[in-house]
Amino acid sequence: MDKTGSFFLPPPHSTVAGDIDALFNFIYFSSAILLALVTAAMVLFIVRYRRRGAATTTSGMAHNTALEITWTLIPTIVVFIIFAWGFKGFIRLHVAPANSMQVKVTGQKWFWSFDYPDGASSVNELLVPAGQPVKLLMSSKDVIHSFYVPTFRIKMDVLPNRYTIAWFEATDTGNFNLFCTEYCGTKHSEMIGKVRVVTERQYAEWLETQSGPGAGESLVDYGARLYSQKACITCHSSDGKAGTGPTFKGIFGHTVDLEGGQSVEVDENYIRESILEPKAKVVRGFQPVMPTYQGLLKDKQIDGLVEYIKSLK
Ligand code: CUA
Repeated sequence: MDKTGSFFLPPPHSTVAGDIDALFNFIYFSSAILLALVTAAMVLFIVRYRRRGAATTTSGMAHNTALEITWTLIPTIVVFIIFAWGFKGFIRLHVAPANSMQVKVTGQKWFWSFDYPDGASSVNELLVPAGQPVKLLMSSKDVIHSFYVPTFRIKMDVLPNRYTIAWFEATDTGNFNLFCTEYCGTKHSEMIGKVRVVTERQYAEWLETQSGPGAGESLVDYGARLYSQKACITCHSSDGKAGTGPTFKGIFGHTVDLEGGQSVEVDENYIRESILEPKAKVVRGFQPVMPTYQGLLKDKQIDGLVEYIKSLK
């Protein structure tokens, strides 16, 4: 969708932008009206009550209670409106919706990195689906940075040794500027990133291409990481101990007996099948209680788990 900004503000592209802009405009225009009124009154009084000669005297009036109450009460009401409105917006900006997707944001000299729930990561480009609340859990590796996306109307300091939180729900797809807005050293001005808002489907496709071992991580190490990340560890031990499911230790290449009397050699295909269709070939003595990981694990992740199981001799 094409949206244009105003003279003061860039185009709004998040769910909170409308509220924030309305409050900004209210403060701006009430200040402008007040400035005009005070200036006009001042000019009027200067002209009208100027000293016209030695014979004239100024008014003897000391005060006017009704007038003083009026000019105290009206600004007080305006200030309270601004406070209530601003406080409501402050709370809204600081409490992420319960259905938010969490992205870990790390600021460091002089770039941004992002870690997604599925193990994907990116640098200087935050990729998110439109229409999905995104909670940013942020920290810094060195000095104070600040995460600022003008079109979303969000800005939050990113600190070392402490987490800060910001959230947004992008209303439109597109590329939006991300700035560091806390002076953080010589290349502060180059600490610029992008938020790329895509459709749900494009996001899923991107995740598919992203999931895989991290830089310098072997397939075995990747599998070992997934083993705990994907909670295989809760039922399958890696040290031979019995659990809800068979241990992974020393099973690869061996033949196991199945419920129903058959047997099978534990090879790559059997492991893959057991991850995707756990009830197809259940090892004797175990209950068919494992949930399917169909759709939850990408091919690369299954490869990693297979290599990890192979490594447990
Ligand atoms: Cu990071 Cu300025």
